[in-house]
Amino acid sequence: MDNITEPAGSNDTTGDTGTTGRRGKREHSKTSRAKGGKGLHRRKFLGGTVGLGLAAVGAAGTTFTLLSKGGDKASAASSTSTLTIPDLLEGTTSDSTTTFTLEAKTGTSEVVSGVSSTTMGYNQSYLGPTMKWTNGNTVLLNITNSLGEDTTVHFHGAHVPAKMDGGPQVAFADGETWSPTFEVKDEAKTLWYHPHALGTTAKQAVHGLAGMIIVEDSTDTSSALPSDYGVDDIPIILQCLASDSSGDIKYDLSGYLGSGLVYPVLCNGTNVDDTTLTFEATKTRNRFRILNASPSDIITVQRSDGGTMSQIASDQGYLAEPVDVTSVRLVAGARAEVVMDLSDDVTLQAVVTTGWVRGGSGTYDFLTVTASGTDTPDDLPSTLQTIDRYDTSDFTARTITLGQSGATMLINGSAGTSMSSMAMISTTVGSKEIWTIKNNTQLEHSFHLHDVPYQLISINGEDPTGVELGWYDTYEVVGGGSIEIAMEFTDFSDDTYMYMLHCHLLQHEDEGMMASLMVTDS
Ligand code: C2O
Ligand code: CU
Repeated sequence: MDNITEPAGSNDTTGDTGTTGRRGKREHSKTSRAKGGKGLHRRKFLGGTVGLGLAAVGAAGTTFTLLSKGGDKASAASSTSTLTIPDLLEGTTSDSTTTFTLEAKTGTSEVVSGVSSTTMGYNQSYLGPTMKWTNGNTVLLNITNSLGEDTTVHFHGAHVPAKMDGGPQVAFADGETWSPTFEVKDEAKTLWYHPHALGTTAKQAVHGLAGMIIVEDSTDTSSALPSDYGVDDIPIILQCLASDSSGDIKYDLSGYLGSGLVYPVLCNGTNVDDTTLTFEATKTRNRFRILNASPSDIITVQRSDGGTMSQIASDQGYLAEPVDVTSVRLVAGARAEVVMDLSDDVTLQAVVTTGWVRGGSGTYDFLTVTASGTDTPDDLPSTLQTIDRYDTSDFTARTITLGQSGATMLINGSAGTSMSSMAMISTTVGSKEIWTIKNNTQLEHSFHLHDVPYQLISINGEDPTGVELGWYDTYEVVGGGSIEIAMEFTDFSDDTYMYMLHCHLLQHEDEGMMASLMVTDS
């Protein structure tokens, strides 16, 4: 226990890799199981990236250090296989409306190596195809539910009318087809789709219901940026799950407190625990769209050689300019796009930092990209888009508090486990707001807002820099920390259908850390 606990009130933000950094992955898992007790939540730390110097605040009792392994994976990968590229979903287009057909269904898949799990997917057994949407076009989705239980499909990060957004109010039953349609107002960015019915989001998402959406537009930057899907524009969906050894995937507190659990890490649906996938890059420049579709974990992607990547986009599209980074830290639900010009092979690692009560931290060599391109790409554009930073001096201010009462998770004091118990934020179309997201718990949260993108105004009291100056819809709020975000509610109003704002640790969402947002006419 000594490596995972520390005295209450100790400064827990100094990083913890020293304690556990050289232990093997399996040992981590075991150690984390040993702590076990109900209500014991592992405290999250920063690992030296953002928000340093934030001390533990008012911890009632014991806090927990992260089990993050510092070095390379202890044993070399024992096998290789080729990276699976999710199919591109063919739509049918007429009169600038593209129609897509999806079916949410059950199946089986090998989530734990060598074991067959019962899973869920869109049009397939696990995960779903990638959709391409084009800015200015209209899409119509015919989505059939064959799961045997209610579901919804939410278009995470998309700016669409509340009724089309796939929140809990539009859940639909087994056997039914839901057909949202809307104009694509988003500019180029990487979105994703996943379930969002009350109380079942974690369960359905970890069983495989998740897919990527690529929005394309006509910005000139696209000529210098790779856009050939699966060739030089590569989707990377990372997931860290928890399962028992028979392949039964866990998704809630009681599941996570079971014994004998394993913590599979998947890339595009393939287990990479002991496998490094390969991708042959036939072009010199490659773009990776990275999605953390995990239920709770933070994933940091880095090169095993410590080299840099050019980050070109955050959750909500292009940064103002490419930013050289040595790692990309993604909370659950977040995305980033990076570009690498490769003359040598490179191996990408996922550093998993587990959240909530589950174990399974470690570093995984998930993908080796073999460089075989002989072309010389144009210079990356020095400007990707203009981002006018908000002057928030006359913005309407609100505070959103993230709280906890035992295993119940709260926003603004309410547990949003039903539409009637949920806290509701009311605003009007056209309003500009600055929200302080205040984390009154000792747990890590991942703050997600539907409808419109936000800018980060401060992160634990510090000004944002570098990639933090981009547009976001899902951002880390450390235990005891706070972020200020600013947004403008544009285009859509409704007096019946609401957007959601919530923690994207899916168990926290299911346990109530979700509020609604009603945007009405001004
Ligand atoms: Cu990705 Cu409200 O969710
Ligand atoms: Cu949370």
